Amino acid sequence: MVGDCPEVNGLFVWPESLRRHGIGTALITTAEDLVRDRSGPRIGLGVKDGNTRAAALYVRLGYRPAVPRYLDRWSYVDQDGRMHDNADPCAFLVKELG
Ligand SMILES: CC(C)(COP(=O)(O)OP(=O)(O)OC[C@H]1O[C@@H](n2cnc3c(N)ncnc32)[C@H](O)[C@@H]1OP(=O)(O)O)[C@@H](O)C(=O)NCCC(=O)NCCS
Repeated sequence: MVGDCPEVNGLFVWPESLRRHGIGTALITTAEDLVRDRSGPRIGLGVKDGNTRAAALYVRLGYRPAVPRYLDRWSYVDQDGRMHDNADPCAFLVKELG
């Protein structure tokens, strides 16, 4: 998150067969409309390095890289009870809503 910029987080369309039908775009543009009406002039989202398809979609929708880049730290417990810690390098992209 950058400052007080509202953020779309954890965007995921499932099952995979439903992807590429405009659902991701609809979720993002709906969030943009809500933020424009209620919050302020910009919205952002983080994208992990290497997620080129999602990044291309965001750029096509008008999102641009903001600084600073950041590490997304998250953990999960596997089925054997072991904790796994992750730190993914990410870019934060921002769209000016106008
Ligand atoms: C990234 C993600 C959320 C996008 O959701 P989506 O519903 O597939 O997004 P959209 O359908 O709006 O647009 C994605 C693609 O479908 C295309 N598309 C949009 N509407 C379409 C339609 N009616 N028919 C065919 N293609 C369509 C878009 O042009 C775009 O093309 P591209 O994949 O070649 O770039 C989804 O791929 C996903 O859940 N990925 C796994 C998790 C992930 O990476 N999340 C992002 C974390 S930052």
